[in-house]
Amino acid sequence: MAKKRILVMTGGGDCPGLNAVIRAIVRRTEQEDDWEVIGSIEAFNGLLRDPMEVVLLDSKTVSGIHIRGGTILKTTNKGGPFHWPVKNEDGTFSYVDRCDDLINRLEKLGINAVISIGGEGSMDIAQRLFEKGIPIIGVPKTIDNDLSSTDLTFGYQTSVQIATEAVDRLITTAASHNRLMILEVMGRDAGWIGLSAAIAGGAHVALIPEIPYDIDKVAAEINDRVENGRGFAIVVISEGAKSIGGNTFSRDSDQPGYQNKILGGVGHRLLEEIKDKIDVEARVMILGHLQRGGSPIAYDRVLATQFGVKSVELVLEGKFGHMVSYRHPNVVSVPIANAIEEYNYVKLDSALVHTARGVGISLGD
Ligand code: F6P
Repeated sequence: MAKKRILVMTGGGDCPGLNAVIRAIVRRTEQEDDWEVIGSIEAFNGLLRDPMEVVLLDSKTVSGIHIRGGTILKTTNKGGPFHWPVKNEDGTFSYVDRCDDLINRLEKLGINAVISIGGEGSMDIAQRLFEKGIPIIGVPKTIDNDLSSTDLTFGYQTSVQIATEAVDRLITTAASHNRLMILEVMGRDAGWIGLSAAIAGGAHVALIPEIPYDIDKVAAEINDRVENGRGFAIVVISEGAKSIGGNTFSRDSDQPGYQNKILGGVGHRLLEEIKDKIDVEARVMILGHLQRGGSPIAYDRVLATQFGVKSVELVLEGKFGHMVSYRHPNVVSVPIANAIEEYNYVKLDSALVHTARGVGISLGD
Protein backbone atom coordinates (compact mmCIF):
# COMPACT_ATOMS: atom_id res chain seq x y z
CA MET A 1 0.00 0.00 0.00
CA ALA A 2 1.25 3.52 -0.81
CA LYS A 3 2.67 5.32 2.18
CA LYS A 4 1.16 8.51 3.56
CA ARG A 5 3.28 11.53 2.81
CA ILE A 6 4.55 14.56 4.70
CA LEU A 7 5.75 17.43 2.53
CA VAL A 8 8.44 19.48 4.25
CA MET A 9 9.96 22.79 3.17
CA THR A 10 12.05 25.68 4.46
CA GLY A 11 10.95 29.28 3.73
CA GLY A 12 12.20 32.79 4.46
CA GLY A 13 15.81 33.66 5.31
CA ASP A 14 17.94 30.66 6.20
CA CYS A 15 19.19 30.17 9.74
CA PRO A 16 21.45 27.71 11.54
CA GLY A 17 19.47 24.63 12.61
CA LEU A 18 17.20 24.16 9.57
CA ASN A 19 19.00 20.98 8.56
CA ALA A 20 18.73 19.61 12.09
CA VAL A 21 14.92 20.03 11.91
CA ILE A 22 14.76 18.31 8.52
CA ARG A 23 16.85 15.41 9.80
CA ALA A 24 14.69 15.03 12.92
CA ILE A 25 11.51 15.06 10.82
CA VAL A 26 12.84 12.30 8.59
CA ARG A 27 14.19 10.17 11.45
CA ARG A 28 10.99 10.44 13.50
CA THR A 29 8.82 9.72 10.45
CA GLU A 30 10.84 6.62 9.65
CA GLN A 31 9.70 5.17 12.97
CA GLU A 32 6.22 5.01 11.42
CA ASP A 33 5.91 2.21 8.82
CA ASP A 34 3.18 3.90 6.81
CA TRP A 35 4.64 7.41 6.40
CA GLU A 36 7.41 8.95 4.29
CA VAL A 37 8.82 12.46 3.78
CA ILE A 38 9.04 14.48 0.57
CA GLY A 39 10.96 17.76 0.43
CA SER A 40 9.90 20.73 -1.72
CA ILE A 41 12.87 22.74 -2.99
CA GLU A 42 12.87 26.50 -2.20
CA ALA A 43 9.76 26.56 -0.01
CA PHE A 44 6.57 26.05 -2.06
CA ASN A 45 8.35 27.05 -5.27
CA GLY A 46 9.52 23.49 -5.92
CA LEU A 47 5.97 22.24 -5.83
CA LEU A 48 4.69 25.04 -8.06
CA ARG A 49 7.37 24.71 -10.77
CA ASP A 50 7.10 22.69 -13.95
CA PRO A 51 8.53 20.16 -13.68
CA MET A 52 8.06 20.00 -9.92
CA GLU A 53 11.23 20.10 -7.82
CA VAL A 54 10.55 17.69 -4.98
CA VAL A 55 12.73 14.98 -3.46
CA LEU A 56 12.16 11.89 -1.36
CA LEU A 57 14.02 12.29 1.94
CA ASP A 58 15.27 9.26 3.85
CA SER A 59 17.77 8.71 6.63
CA LYS A 60 20.60 8.37 4.10
CA THR A 61 19.80 11.77 2.53
CA VAL A 62 19.78 13.49 5.92
CA SER A 63 22.68 11.64 7.50
CA GLY A 64 24.99 14.07 9.35
CA ILE A 65 23.26 17.24 8.10
CA HIS A 66 22.34 18.47 11.61
CA ILE A 67 25.77 20.05 11.99
CA ARG A 68 25.58 21.96 8.72
CA GLY A 69 24.31 25.53 8.33
CA GLY A 70 21.86 26.58 5.60
CA THR A 71 19.22 24.19 4.31
CA ILE A 72 19.56 21.19 2.00
CA LEU A 73 16.07 22.07 0.69
CA LYS A 74 17.09 25.63 -0.20
CA THR A 75 14.87 28.55 0.70
CA THR A 76 13.48 31.82 -0.57
CA ASN A 77 11.98 34.98 0.86
CA LYS A 78 10.46 36.03 -2.46
CA GLY A 79 7.01 35.29 -3.79
CA GLY A 80 4.96 32.40 -2.41
CA PRO A 81 1.69 30.74 -3.43
CA PHE A 82 -0.41 33.86 -2.79
CA HIS A 83 2.04 36.25 -4.44
CA TRP A 84 3.61 34.37 -7.35
CA PRO A 85 5.60 36.67 -9.66
CA VAL A 86 4.86 36.40 -13.39
CA LYS A 87 7.03 38.32 -15.85
CA ASN A 88 5.10 40.50 -18.31
CA GLU A 89 6.20 41.12 -21.90
CA ASP A 90 7.48 44.59 -20.99
CA GLY A 91 9.76 43.11 -18.30
CA THR A 92 7.61 44.20 -15.34
CA PHE A 93 6.05 41.68 -12.96
CA SER A 94 2.48 40.89 -12.01
CA TYR A 95 1.52 38.73 -9.06
CA VAL A 96 -1.00 35.88 -9.09
CA ASP A 97 -2.62 33.69 -6.44
CA ARG A 98 -1.67 30.06 -7.11
CA CYS A 99 -3.29 28.54 -4.05
CA ASP A 100 -5.77 26.38 -6.01
CA ASP A 101 -2.95 25.08 -8.19
CA LEU A 102 -1.00 24.30 -5.03
CA ILE A 103 -3.90 22.31 -3.58
CA ASN A 104 -4.17 20.28 -6.84
CA ARG A 105 -0.46 19.56 -6.85
CA LEU A 106 -0.52 18.43 -3.21
CA GLU A 107 -3.33 16.00 -4.10
CA LYS A 108 -1.47 14.77 -7.17
CA LEU A 109 1.62 14.05 -5.07
CA GLY A 110 -0.45 12.21 -2.46
CA ILE A 111 0.49 14.61 0.34
CA ASN A 112 -1.36 14.05 3.62
CA ALA A 113 0.38 16.71 5.69
CA VAL A 114 2.67 19.70 5.21
CA ILE A 115 5.36 20.87 7.64
CA SER A 116 6.42 24.44 6.91
CA ILE A 117 9.63 25.55 8.62
CA GLY A 118 9.80 29.33 8.50
CA GLY A 119 9.57 32.72 10.12
CA GLU A 120 6.78 35.26 10.45
CA GLY A 121 6.08 35.46 6.69
CA SER A 122 6.01 31.67 6.28
CA MET A 123 3.68 31.29 9.29
CA ASP A 124 1.37 33.87 7.77
CA ILE A 125 1.25 31.84 4.52
CA ALA A 126 0.80 28.62 6.55
CA GLN A 127 -2.22 30.08 8.34
CA ARG A 128 -3.82 31.19 5.07
CA LEU A 129 -3.24 27.72 3.57
CA PHE A 130 -4.70 26.10 6.69
CA GLU A 131 -7.80 28.26 6.24
CA LYS A 132 -8.03 26.88 2.68
CA GLY A 133 -8.11 23.35 4.11
CA ILE A 134 -4.45 22.33 3.81
CA PRO A 135 -3.34 20.12 6.74
CA ILE A 136 -0.30 22.11 7.79
CA ILE A 137 2.03 22.32 10.80
CA GLY A 138 4.41 25.26 11.42
CA VAL A 139 7.94 25.14 12.79
CA PRO A 140 9.26 28.57 13.85
CA LYS A 141 12.76 29.60 12.77
CA THR A 142 14.56 32.91 12.66
CA ILE A 143 17.77 34.34 13.99
CA ASP A 144 15.74 37.45 14.96
CA ASN A 145 13.77 35.62 17.72
CA ASP A 146 10.87 37.89 16.78
CA LEU A 147 8.09 35.28 16.81
CA SER A 148 5.84 35.40 19.85
CA SER A 149 4.21 32.25 21.28
CA THR A 150 7.57 30.51 21.60
CA ASP A 151 10.23 31.30 24.20
CA LEU A 152 12.93 30.97 21.55
CA THR A 153 13.42 30.21 17.88
CA PHE A 154 16.38 28.05 16.85
CA GLY A 155 19.17 29.90 15.06
CA TYR A 156 18.90 32.85 17.41
CA GLN A 157 21.44 31.60 19.97
CA THR A 158 23.93 30.80 17.21
CA SER A 159 23.63 34.37 15.90
CA VAL A 160 24.14 35.74 19.40
CA GLN A 161 27.26 33.58 19.70
CA ILE A 162 28.64 34.93 16.40
CA ALA A 163 27.81 38.53 17.35
CA THR A 164 29.43 38.03 20.76
CA GLU A 165 32.61 36.71 19.17
CA ALA A 166 32.60 39.84 17.01
CA VAL A 167 32.36 42.06 20.12
CA ASP A 168 35.23 40.11 21.72
CA ARG A 169 37.41 40.64 18.67
CA LEU A 170 36.48 44.29 18.26
CA ILE A 171 37.44 44.98 21.86
CA THR A 172 41.08 44.02 21.30
CA THR A 173 41.47 46.17 18.20
CA ALA A 174 39.52 49.07 19.76
CA ALA A 175 41.68 48.91 22.89
CA SER A 176 44.89 48.85 20.84
CA HIS A 177 43.97 52.00 18.90
CA ASN A 178 41.88 53.80 21.52
CA ARG A 179 38.95 53.83 19.15
CA LEU A 180 35.20 53.64 19.19
CA MET A 181 34.01 50.54 17.34
CA ILE A 182 30.37 50.43 16.25
CA LEU A 183 29.11 46.91 15.59
CA GLU A 184 25.87 46.62 13.63
CA VAL A 185 23.95 43.38 14.04
CA MET A 186 20.77 41.96 12.47
CA GLY A 187 17.38 41.43 14.08
CA ARG A 188 14.92 43.50 12.00
CA ASP A 189 12.55 45.32 14.37
CA ALA A 190 13.66 43.38 17.44
CA GLY A 191 16.75 43.98 19.56
CA TRP A 192 17.27 40.43 20.86
CA ILE A 193 20.55 39.73 19.07
CA GLY A 194 21.98 43.19 19.80
CA LEU A 195 21.10 43.29 23.47
CA SER A 196 22.24 39.72 24.17
CA ALA A 197 25.55 40.17 22.33
CA ALA A 198 26.14 43.47 24.16
CA ILE A 199 25.65 41.78 27.53
CA ALA A 200 27.67 38.67 26.62
CA GLY A 201 30.52 40.64 25.07
CA GLY A 202 30.56 43.53 27.53
CA ALA A 203 29.73 46.39 25.16
CA HIS A 204 29.30 49.88 26.61
CA VAL A 205 26.28 51.00 24.63
CA ALA A 206 23.49 48.90 23.09
CA LEU A 207 21.01 50.57 20.76
CA ILE A 208 17.93 48.52 19.95
CA PRO A 209 14.78 49.29 17.93
CA GLU A 210 12.52 49.13 20.99
CA ILE A 211 14.35 52.02 22.72
CA PRO A 212 14.83 55.06 20.45
CA TYR A 213 18.11 56.70 21.42
CA ASP A 214 19.01 60.24 22.38
CA ILE A 215 22.08 61.07 20.31
CA ASP A 216 23.51 63.49 22.89
CA LYS A 217 23.27 60.85 25.60
CA VAL A 218 24.98 58.27 23.37
CA ALA A 219 27.80 60.72 22.61
CA ALA A 220 28.16 61.67 26.29
CA GLU A 221 28.34 58.01 27.26
CA ILE A 222 31.05 57.33 24.69
CA ASN A 223 33.09 60.37 25.75
CA ASP A 224 32.81 59.43 29.40
CA ARG A 225 33.83 55.86 28.69
CA VAL A 226 36.83 56.97 26.61
CA GLU A 227 38.01 59.64 29.05
CA ASN A 228 37.33 57.93 32.35
CA GLY A 229 37.45 54.30 31.30
CA ARG A 230 40.03 52.38 29.34
CA GLY A 231 40.31 54.74 26.36
CA PHE A 232 38.03 52.92 23.96
CA ALA A 233 34.33 52.14 23.56
CA ILE A 234 32.13 49.53 21.92
CA VAL A 235 28.62 50.27 20.67
CA VAL A 236 26.37 47.45 19.48
CA ILE A 237 23.56 48.75 17.29
CA SER A 238 20.68 46.64 15.97
CA GLU A 239 19.91 47.21 12.30
CA GLY A 240 16.39 48.49 13.15
CA ALA A 241 17.53 51.04 15.78
CA LYS A 242 16.54 54.70 15.43
CA SER A 243 16.97 57.94 17.32
CA ILE A 244 14.09 59.60 19.14
CA GLY A 245 11.82 60.93 16.38
CA GLY A 246 13.98 59.23 13.72
CA ASN A 247 13.21 56.52 11.15
CA THR A 248 14.29 52.95 10.59
CA PHE A 249 17.19 52.91 8.12
CA SER A 250 15.87 50.77 5.25
CA ARG A 251 15.36 50.62 1.52
CA ASP A 252 13.05 48.79 -0.90
CA SER A 253 14.24 45.74 -2.79
CA ASP A 254 14.25 45.66 -6.60
CA GLN A 255 13.82 41.86 -6.58
CA PRO A 256 10.41 40.69 -7.83
CA GLY A 257 8.35 39.22 -5.00
CA TYR A 258 10.66 40.44 -2.22
CA GLN A 259 8.21 42.22 0.06
CA ASN A 260 10.40 43.04 3.07
CA LYS A 261 12.34 46.23 3.49
CA ILE A 262 16.10 45.71 3.30
CA LEU A 263 17.85 46.86 6.46
CA GLY A 264 21.56 47.42 6.99
CA GLY A 265 23.77 50.48 7.24
CA VAL A 266 22.40 52.11 10.37
CA GLY A 267 25.86 51.85 11.99
CA HIS A 268 27.23 54.34 9.44
CA ARG A 269 24.25 56.63 10.01
CA LEU A 270 24.96 56.56 13.74
CA LEU A 271 28.57 57.56 13.13
CA GLU A 272 27.41 60.49 10.98
CA GLU A 273 25.05 61.54 13.78
CA ILE A 274 27.72 61.49 16.50
CA LYS A 275 31.02 62.20 14.80
CA ASP A 276 31.04 65.90 15.71
CA LYS A 277 30.03 65.16 19.30
CA ILE A 278 32.71 62.61 20.23
CA ASP A 279 36.42 62.97 20.96
CA VAL A 280 37.56 59.62 19.66
CA GLU A 281 38.35 58.07 16.29
CA ALA A 282 35.67 55.60 15.17
CA ARG A 283 35.09 52.70 12.80
CA VAL A 284 31.92 50.83 11.82
CA MET A 285 31.55 47.10 11.27
CA ILE A 286 28.42 45.55 9.80
CA LEU A 287 28.28 41.88 10.73
CA GLY A 288 25.55 41.08 8.18
CA HIS A 289 24.92 37.59 6.89
CA LEU A 290 27.86 36.11 8.79
CA GLN A 291 25.31 35.89 11.60
CA ARG A 292 23.24 33.41 9.59
CA GLY A 293 25.97 31.23 8.15
CA GLY A 294 27.79 28.19 9.40
CA SER A 295 27.16 25.46 11.89
CA PRO A 296 24.49 25.81 14.59
CA ILE A 297 25.74 25.75 18.18
CA ALA A 298 24.73 22.73 20.28
CA TYR A 299 21.80 24.58 21.89
CA ASP A 300 20.21 25.27 18.52
CA ARG A 301 20.82 21.72 17.30
CA VAL A 302 18.96 20.40 20.32
CA LEU A 303 16.08 22.90 19.98
CA ALA A 304 15.80 22.26 16.24
CA THR A 305 15.77 18.50 16.77
CA GLN A 306 13.07 18.83 19.43
CA PHE A 307 10.99 20.95 17.03
CA GLY A 308 11.41 18.41 14.21
CA VAL A 309 10.31 15.46 16.33
CA LYS A 310 7.37 17.42 17.78
CA SER A 311 6.17 18.54 14.34
CA VAL A 312 5.87 14.93 13.16
CA GLU A 313 4.02 14.02 16.34
CA LEU A 314 1.56 16.85 15.68
CA VAL A 315 0.99 15.41 12.19
CA LEU A 316 0.32 11.96 13.68
CA GLU A 317 -2.12 13.53 16.18
CA GLY A 318 -3.81 15.46 13.35
CA LYS A 319 -3.21 18.75 15.16
CA PHE A 320 -3.11 20.83 11.99
CA GLY A 321 -3.03 24.62 11.99
CA HIS A 322 -0.66 24.47 14.94
CA MET A 323 2.91 25.67 15.31
CA VAL A 324 5.53 23.95 17.41
CA SER A 325 6.58 26.11 20.33
CA TYR A 326 9.17 26.03 23.10
CA ARG A 327 7.84 26.83 26.55
CA HIS A 328 10.68 26.05 28.90
CA PRO A 329 11.23 23.21 29.63
CA ASN A 330 8.58 21.77 27.32
CA VAL A 331 7.99 21.62 23.59
CA VAL A 332 4.31 22.32 23.04
CA SER A 333 2.10 23.62 20.23
CA VAL A 334 0.03 26.76 19.67
CA PRO A 335 -2.48 27.68 16.96
CA ILE A 336 -0.54 29.40 14.15
CA ALA A 337 -3.22 32.11 14.17
CA ASN A 338 -2.22 33.05 17.73
CA ALA A 339 1.50 32.82 16.97
CA ILE A 340 1.32 35.47 14.24
CA GLU A 341 -0.93 37.85 16.16
CA GLU A 342 1.85 39.64 17.99
CA TYR A 343 5.45 40.57 17.10
CA ASN A 344 8.01 39.54 19.71
CA TYR A 345 9.67 42.81 20.72
CA VAL A 346 12.14 43.03 23.59
CA LYS A 347 9.93 44.23 26.46
CA LEU A 348 11.18 47.36 28.18
CA ASP A 349 10.53 45.86 31.62
CA SER A 350 12.15 42.51 30.76
CA ALA A 351 14.94 40.81 32.69
CA LEU A 352 17.28 41.26 29.72
CA VAL A 353 16.85 45.06 29.69
CA HIS A 354 17.10 45.14 33.50
CA THR A 355 20.32 43.09 33.36
CA ALA A 356 21.89 45.31 30.69
CA ARG A 357 21.19 48.41 32.78
CA GLY A 358 22.36 46.56 35.88
CA VAL A 359 25.87 46.10 34.45
CA GLY A 360 26.00 49.69 33.29
CA ILE A 361 25.31 49.25 29.58
CA SER A 362 23.80 52.45 28.24
CA LEU A 363 20.70 51.92 26.11
CA GLY A 364 20.89 55.44 24.78
CA ASP A 365 17.82 56.71 26.65
O1 F6P B 1 15.03 37.78 9.32
C1 F6P B 1 16.35 37.35 9.31
C2 F6P B 1 17.23 38.40 8.69
O2 F6P B 1 18.57 37.91 8.72
C3 F6P B 1 17.15 39.79 9.32
O3 F6P B 1 17.84 39.87 10.53
C4 F6P B 1 17.70 40.63 8.21
O4 F6P B 1 17.22 41.95 8.26
C5 F6P B 1 17.15 39.93 6.99
O5 F6P B 1 16.87 38.61 7.35
C6 F6P B 1 18.07 39.94 5.81
O6 F6P B 1 17.41 39.36 4.75
P1 F6P B 1 18.10 38.97 3.37
O7 F6P B 1 18.86 37.71 3.60
O8 F6P B 1 16.98 38.80 2.43
O9 F6P B 1 19.01 40.10 3.02
